[in-house]
Amino acid sequence: MTTTPTSTSFAVTENDGRATPEQIAAVLENPGFGAHFTDHMAMIDWSKGEGWHDARVVPYGPLQLDPSAAVFHYGQEIFEGMKAYRHADGTVWTFRPERNAERLNNSARRLALPELPPTMFLDAIREVVTIDQAWVPSAESGETSLYLRPFMIATEHGLGVRPSNEVLFSVICSPAGAYFTGGLKPVSLWVSELYARAAPGGTGEAKCGGNYAASLASQAEGIENGCDQVVFLDALEHRYVEELGGMNLFFVYADGRLVTPELTGTILPGVTRSSLLELARERGMQVEERRFTIDEWRDGVASGEISEVFACGTAAVITPVGRLAWKGGEVTMPDRHEVTMSLREELLDIQYGRAEDRHGWLYQLV
Ligand code: COI
Repeated sequence: MTTTPTSTSFAVTENDGRATPEQIAAVLENPGFGAHFTDHMAMIDWSKGEGWHDARVVPYGPLQLDPSAAVFHYGQEIFEGMKAYRHADGTVWTFRPERNAERLNNSARRLALPELPPTMFLDAIREVVTIDQAWVPSAESGETSLYLRPFMIATEHGLGVRPSNEVLFSVICSPAGAYFTGGLKPVSLWVSELYARAAPGGTGEAKCGGNYAASLASQAEGIENGCDQVVFLDALEHRYVEELGGMNLFFVYADGRLVTPELTGTILPGVTRSSLLELARERGMQVEERRFTIDEWRDGVASGEISEVFACGTAAVITPVGRLAWKGGEVTMPDRHEVTMSLREELLDIQYGRAEDRHGWLYQLV
């Protein structure tokens, strides 16, 4: 467990219309996902001349941007997803935030946005979680947490297509329960044959809004076909399983192997994904990161070689997959989730401080 002293100085403007303890308690009773926001947000400006400056914490509220700002027209935007967890002793922690800081900067390079020093990233998170700590659900509340959404947008006005000379980095916070309405239950997946999410050389491994926008038409198609989420295949051969758009995928074999699509540049390198790979290796599971075809999936389930399938991400943690459907067919996963649920439990126990943090993955915020 590590703590780093705050080194960026934030000017704080307190929100005089803060939510009351009763209002916060009412939200935390059933927070849903991404529906409610805390009283403050952190912001840091960047300009080509001045670099990063004017770090501040201000009341949560609308941004005022010129309608010609680059973010609105050319999608120059990136974001991260993290969580703050309250432990039984009242302290508040986050999970592997240096990974998010590093990924944000990888995304920034791809989208021609400025890199943010990781200390500023961590300080912004610590500042806003500290001031809004009353919004972090109690340790007894089950699996609820405070979801953190750092993001960076191009704010310069003008319609010329070029990297913005003015940028805003911000962190907003939202109490979070289960990502899927209806709680933890196996999700059904639709194979997107019409569209790809990302192509080699594109932005697939960057966490940018455009990737999510590009997934929405397929997502709508999946819902029309009675599924919860969409599986994207590779753009070139339409054979290799990539990810769900918001989550990575894992396949548990009856012989104890764990397979996940390798990071080819078109898949988001999930922090949950890499943590689960490490936990599985430590359990002695044979872990394979490799290209994995949709036929291997269908055949593996049919033959009984694949015993469990799950999806993972920060927001949804680990979610079992129950059914895979495509135009003209479907296959139902076995109703077994032992490995899925025990990896889920192990990860959550670390995040909520119920198990020893033997990897030094936790970072204290409050
Ligand atoms: C996350 O899991 O944190 C994500 O960013 C996925 C989704 C909510 C966009």
